[in-house]
Amino acid sequence: MSNMIILMGSVRKGGNTDLLVQAFAEGARRNNTVEIISVADYRVNPCIGCNSCFTREGNRCFQEDDMVQIYEKLKNADIVVAASPVYFYGISAQLKAVVDRLHTPMRNTFSIKKLGLLLVGAAGLPELFDAILMQYRMILDYFQLEDIGSVLVRGVREKGDIKGNAALGEAYELGLSIGMENKICRG
Ligand SMILES: Cc1cc2nc3c(=O)[nH]c(=O)nc-3n(C[C@H](O)[C@H](O)[C@H](O)COP(=O)(O)O)c2cc1C
Repeated sequence: MSNMIILMGSVRKGGNTDLLVQAFAEGARRNNTVEIISVADYRVNPCIGCNSCFTREGNRCFQEDDMVQIYEKLKNADIVVAASPVYFYGISAQLKAVVDRLHTPMRNTFSIKKLGLLLVGAAGLPELFDAILMQYRMILDYFQLEDIGSVLVRGVREKGDIKGNAALGEAYELGLSIGMENKICRG
């Protein structure tokens, strides 16, 4: 069993990101230990670029905010899944604040091996997720992480628009596939 943390980046409880995450987590829980962190429930300041995490024990940030709790949870994570609504073609500010604060511990302290991505957005544009996907691929490459896959959902704007969308089934199936290979190998 792998330990998976899902960073849920929308403030809207029961919104489209939240429902997509729940479908994914339902599948993933079959073969993994899964914890969903709704990042908006934590008071996380942005990184200020002081670089003091380079030398501090555990590469932890000097800021004593709720990121302390998130660091603790990520210490034992093998897989991280980032989930966000598209905000101006990027991820939400709440999720970005958490991601930036992971920069040094991701390199030195954590043992995260795999990364996944769940995104929702209102527009139907083919290019809607391009900027985030570019960033995602660069992060995979920089941190030498394995991509577990992604589910990208266009055309969902109001809270709950995603209900009945085939993407929820797709997210469940992607979640279910994670860790399945270990099960098959062990017989
Ligand atoms: C500040 C803000 C910026 C947004 N920017 C975009 C955007 O650039 N492209 C887009 O398609 N949708 C954009 N949206 C719409 C959301 O991505 C969409 O409503 C999404 O379904 C919200 O997900 P949630 O229900 O999980 O909060 C934006 C919404 C907000 C509040």
